[in-house]
Amino acid sequence: MKKEEKFKEILCIGAGYVGGPTMAVIAAKCPDYNVTVADIDARRIAAWNSDLLPIYEPGLDEIVKRTRGKNLFFTTDISSAIKRCGIIFVSVNTPTKTFGEGAGKAADLQFWEKTARAIIEDAEDDKIVVEKSTLPVRTAELMHRILQSNTKGLSFEVLSNPEFLAEGTAIRDLESPDRVLIGAMETDSGRIAMEKVFDIYARWVPRDRILTTNVWSSELSKLVANAMLAQRISSINSISALCEKTDADVNEVASAIGMDSRIGPKFLKAGVGFGGSCFKKDILNLVYICDHYGLGEVARYWEQVILLNDYQNRRFVNRIIRSMFNTVANKKIALFGFAFKADTGDTRESPAIYISRLLAEERANLAIYDPKAIPNAKKDIADIASSVEFHEDPYSCAKSAHAIAIITDWSEFRTLDYQKIYQSMTKPAFIFDGRNILDKHKMHNIGFNIYSLGSRPLTTS
Ligand code: NAD
Ligand code: UGA
Repeated sequence: MKKEEKFKEILCIGAGYVGGPTMAVIAAKCPDYNVTVADIDARRIAAWNSDLLPIYEPGLDEIVKRTRGKNLFFTTDISSAIKRCGIIFVSVNTPTKTFGEGAGKAADLQFWEKTARAIIEDAEDDKIVVEKSTLPVRTAELMHRILQSNTKGLSFEVLSNPEFLAEGTAIRDLESPDRVLIGAMETDSGRIAMEKVFDIYARWVPRDRILTTNVWSSELSKLVANAMLAQRISSINSISALCEKTDADVNEVASAIGMDSRIGPKFLKAGVGFGGSCFKKDILNLVYICDHYGLGEVARYWEQVILLNDYQNRRFVNRIIRSMFNTVANKKIALFGFAFKADTGDTRESPAIYISRLLAEERANLAIYDPKAIPNAKKDIADIASSVEFHEDPYSCAKSAHAIAIITDWSEFRTLDYQKIYQSMTKPAFIFDGRNILDKHKMHNIGFNIYSLGSRPLTTS
């Protein structure tokens, strides 16, 4: 294969929530490139090659159907793919370490290091290795050292190209990103490698939205972007607690402050707390790095974003218990939603997990409905299975319940027949709207005691 042609062979190691959608979009936008997505998980790869993809994401099925088998391939044969491809994206998982030094905070880089070692084992020529996973700042240095330790005289260029997609809107975010970030070493070979990755994105992303930086800024920007987004949520959630004490309404406060163009309206939706696989892990990682560099005050500042989030989960449950006459023991409570946000089946770090456990500890009987997340939910809370029943429709879920708690902002929860639901419930009937998606006056008129988050409840007695 000619030297330039191998850079039209792209490999992504890691076929998860990032690797799959990202590579599908690259394949669709660059028909003259061959894109291979490889994973050690044979079941996941089989699912990517089937009609039932391993993740639910609006628009994903269609794009995979269009490209799979043409210039998009899913495989477990990582070794052949490494040999063939000139550009290797690494999008393996980088969870929080659960053991040893840095346990509970630092990123666990074992999966990522294994891929680096697989690359030097199988590579037969020079490669561009692109960090797609979210990694601690200065990881590229370690990656480079491991790769350069090869005894074949090969040369590797390491770039950072963090991913900013959000689940549920991944395809839209990938097709029309606010920005693409590419960080490279400040060397001639670094700049040449960066141009090759730049050219891929330039097929569909306006050039002024492709930001190039040094590799350390790129790595750090990803952690900071997530920390700042999560910080906004914790900020507004902290105010939701104050609103409940003062009869202010957190939605009104959010609208009022969000109209200031310096603040902006996005990510100011108060709720049961943020979930998802990344916010918590990335902030913990930022905290760990700050402590590592002796920046205790900075570390404590960011740590507070997570502590406030835990507080918000607990606060939501405590409000349920207090409002329901200080006990939920043996009462059926219907949880509407289990995914960490709408339009995904992903439940990683979902507030629903903590809320379910806290309610089960109070001996509530839980009934759970979610349009996409039930298979994951069953695994997440297997430890409290005796307190939980799962439902395939919201009406049976709410039947004879004392309360409904809205945990996920699925749009279908806005349009249910709440009159019918009310009639089927035990009275007095409560709704705890943890996402503020229901019209509280309408619910109150039906007869519910309605507790929207961050405002005064409307009760019937
Ligand atoms: P994921 O767990 O869904 O997927 C990771 C995949 O990597 C798994 O399928 C796993 O089997 C595979 N893998 C692990 N070790 C491997 C190895 N040695 N060889 C081959 N495959 C291996 O994770 P994800 O949600 O796709 O996240 C991946 C990275 O992207 C993380 O660093 C995350 O922080 C970051 N990120 C995630 C999102 C998101 O929305 N999920 C968004 C932006 C960035
Ligand atoms: C987030 C970021 O938005 C992405 O840019 C980033 O790439 C990704 O993390 C990552 O690195 O994994 P994601 O977690 O998929 O994406 O979804 P978000 O839309 O950010 O929602 C995260 C959580 O915050 C959800 O539980 C959501 O319900 C909650 N949230 C969000 C609020 O409670 N209020 C808001 O105003 C916004």
